[in-house]
Amino acid sequence: MSAATETARLTTRDIQRLKQAGEKIAMLTAYDYVTAGLLDQAGIEMILVGDSLGNVVLGHETTLPVSLEDMIRHTAAVYRGTNRALVVCDMPFGTATDPDTALRNAVAILQRTGCQAVKIEGGVGAAAAVSRLTNQGVPVMAHIGLTPQAVHQLGGYYRHGKTAPAAQKLIDAALALQDAGAFAIVLEMVVPDLAAEITRLLDIPTIGIGSGEGCSGQVLVINDLIGLNTGRAPSFARPKADVASVIKKAVGEYIAEVKARDSTEPGDRAGERVHG
Ligand code: KIV
Repeated sequence: MSAATETARLTTRDIQRLKQAGEKIAMLTAYDYVTAGLLDQAGIEMILVGDSLGNVVLGHETTLPVSLEDMIRHTAAVYRGTNRALVVCDMPFGTATDPDTALRNAVAILQRTGCQAVKIEGGVGAAAAVSRLTNQGVPVMAHIGLTPQAVHQLGGYYRHGKTAPAAQKLIDAALALQDAGAFAIVLEMVVPDLAAEITRLLDIPTIGIGSGEGCSGQVLVINDLIGLNTGRAPSFARPKADVASVIKKAVGEYIAEVKARDSTEPGDRAGERVHG
C-alpha cells in the first residue's frame, strides 16, 4: 500500500512521508478542470498549475507574460476538478520579488483558489520570501536549476550544475531553501549526478524534471506526457500517448462528415447540445 493516505486530499506531510518511505512521488501539471479531474482519478499525488500555462495554453514564447490573475483563474479550475491531489500554484514572474510582495500574492492565491501550496522559482535569493511565507503558514515548493522566468538572464534553456562552482551554488541554494522552510524543491535540468547528490543531502523531497532518476519524484508538463503539442516535446519527455493525432483524426472525420451532409435530409439531434 502507498505511504500516502488513500482517500482524503494529500497534504505536504503525506508528500514528506512518501520521501521517508522511499516511494517516488508523481507530479504533473494541469491547467483546467477536466484534465485535473482525470489526473486526480488516475492517482497523481501532486498537480502543479505551472506558469508553463503561458507556453502550452496561452501560446506565449516564454512564461514571463503570465499574470497572477491567469494563475488564479486556472488554479481555481484545477482545484475544483480534484479531490485527492495536492494542488500547487506557480507564482508567476514578478509576484515574489520580495517577502512582502510574495506574501500578499500567495495569500491571494490560497484564498481565491483553494490550492494548498505555491511554487517560487529562484536560488538563495528566494530564501527570504520562502521563509516569510512558510512562517505565515503558506507551504512553498522551491524551484532551482533552470528557472524559466529568468530565461533572459540565463541566456537560454540548458542544463545546470556542469562546473564545480555551479554545482556548489545549486547545493547551497537547495540547503538554504530547505532551511527557509520549503516542503519540496523542483530540480529542473540539473546534471543528473548532482540532482542525486542534492536529493541525498536534503531531508525534503526533490522533484526532478530533466534531471535524471535520482530525485525523490518527477514532474512533467501534461502536454508533453500525452503528446498534446503542435511543436516538439522536450527530449526528456518520453510521451505515453499521441493525443494531437487523436484530435486531428477526429476533427478530420468531423469535417468530412459535415461536408458530406445532405441538407435536404431532416437533421438529427446531435448538433443541438447546448453549451453556455
Ligand atoms: O511551469 C511549470 O510547468 C514548471 C514545471 C516545468 C516544473 O515550473
